[in-house]
Amino acid sequence: MSFPVNRMRRIRRTDPLRALVRETTVEPGDLIFPLFVCAGEGIRKEVSSMPGIYNISVDEAVREAEEAASLGLGGLILFGVTASKDERGTGAWDEYGIVQRALRAIKQSQASKQLVLIADVCLCEYTSHGHCGIVTESKGTFEIDNDATLKLLARAAVSYAKAGADIVAPSDMMDGRVAAIRTALDAEGHSYTPILSYASKFFSAFYGPFREAAGSAPQFGDRRSYQMDGANLREAMREIDLDIEEGADMILMKPAMPYLDVIRAARERVGVPIGAYQVSGEFSMLTAAIQNGWLDHDRAILESLTSIRRAGADFAITYFAKVAAKLLG
Ligand code: PBG
Repeated sequence: MSFPVNRMRRIRRTDPLRALVRETTVEPGDLIFPLFVCAGEGIRKEVSSMPGIYNISVDEAVREAEEAASLGLGGLILFGVTASKDERGTGAWDEYGIVQRALRAIKQSQASKQLVLIADVCLCEYTSHGHCGIVTESKGTFEIDNDATLKLLARAAVSYAKAGADIVAPSDMMDGRVAAIRTALDAEGHSYTPILSYASKFFSAFYGPFREAAGSAPQFGDRRSYQMDGANLREAMREIDLDIEEGADMILMKPAMPYLDVIRAARERVGVPIGAYQVSGEFSMLTAAIQNGWLDHDRAILESLTSIRRAGADFAITYFAKVAAKLLG
């Protein structure tokens, strides 16, 4: 029995009808806003490739947290921006490191009671070479030393938990880091700190603007030997399985829009909560088109976030979080 008995347009005629049959929703509480925290006071320096996104000092980060809470956002993810770097990325686990200080300051504010504070765990913002792990060299060939890196990541994760992170989120893509972090957290009395692992993180051109924001571009070579090949969906599923086996409480998919099929496949495969990271390049691409008047600001942003939720993500990390919450409000 088809047309004219079936008329799909019957349920699209009015706003209330459309609202009634809408399958996917986006709410402010599903959105996590990234912060790039730097040293100093009263600092708010725009990232040139990310209009409206700033490097901010700790005092400003507290203000951002207050705004995020008042908008009803789900939480914040913190990245450190620092000029003091070394071979091992010591700043990542420094008790007085930039993210540790920001976490303690935000934790003291009222806002933190309504927000989930996530600490990204990686070395690339703190290493002089900009790689996510320890670099070794033999006969002119560089390698990222997986196993030596694990201890450092675990130290960083523990120090963020100690400073007040509600969740730690390793983004380095070393093998075995979830287990290493879980063991270290448990040993240090943080057995209730969840791990959100960037389980399927692809080697992507879309991280370009982030590296300007965080000052974390590799000084030589690239990240292909640890981040995943963008062509591989089955391999992404193995990464996810392994991270969950190692103790990941939640997984993060990244980037989001160019990899919606991977998010969907993950959703159908596993029961753990899934987040998706609408990364810097996705933000910059949309923002550039919006600024040119080529895309409608409100609709393009909400449609992009809806697509991520529809693919199966429970929550999204997005530089549009505050803007979107205002549109949804
Ligand atoms: C750190 C990290 C990166 C991003 C999140 N954590 C950069 C990278 O892997 O090069 C990218 C986020 C974005 O592009 O918005 N390893």
